[in-house]
Amino acid sequence: MDFKTIVTQRYNAKKFDGSRTDEARLRELLDIIRYAPSADNLQPWKIKVIGDRETLDRLVPATLPFNQERIKTCSHLLLFCTDKDLESHWARLEQAMKNAGRPDEEIRHMGGVAKMIMGRPPGERLNRSQWDVFLAVGNAVNGAQALGIDASLMGGFNANEYARILGLPENLVPTLLVALGKAADSPPPKVRFSRDEIFF
Ligand SMILES: Cc1cc2nc3c(=O)[nH]c(=O)nc-3n(C[C@H](O)[C@H](O)[C@H](O)COP(=O)(O)O)c2cc1C
Repeated sequence: MDFKTIVTQRYNAKKFDGSRTDEARLRELLDIIRYAPSADNLQPWKIKVIGDRETLDRLVPATLPFNQERIKTCSHLLLFCTDKDLESHWARLEQAMKNAGRPDEEIRHMGGVAKMIMGRPPGERLNRSQWDVFLAVGNAVNGAQALGIDASLMGGFNANEYARILGLPENLVPTLLVALGKAADSPPPKVRFSRDEIFF
């Protein structure tokens, strides 16, 4: 499937049929997500992959008030968290770059950018890191479509409750959900602004 077909045919499924997405395709999708770009390559995300019904059921009350019935019938739920602990990301990235044989000069430059990002006020740090997380979510929904997995992204959920139920550490901020599975609805006609309304 070419990329234009992927992005035009993808839609936000509202209902799943309860069937299970096979592990091989799921692993492929996780790799597609992993390759998303991010500012200074800090990859400030941690993604909880929830595939067991018992955990999904525990999350239902923190999701249903937002009319997200689909969580009951999805195969897997990806919880995209923004990791506030950028320092540990930089430390790992620096080591990974050394291991990959990237030039010292490049590593120094990236370190300078990381320092600048990390020196920003906490609210701005979080905000900017969330931009990166959204890009990873873009990979998730388009990647799922490419693999024949239906997806539904949701910003409507109780983030504090998710953090509590899943026992997330304080540095992880639940940001967006992507439910995966086999859709039990059909795509409505696409509604998008015209080229002229967007590009100038
Ligand atoms: C940040 C973000 C949050 C969203 N949250 C929800 C949500 O909580 N529930 C929902 O049904 N759809 C949600 N959506 C999906 C959008 O409504 C959907 O992508 C848009 O209407 C276009 O439809 P399409 O994706 O089917 O083309 C969200 C999309 C984005 C980008």
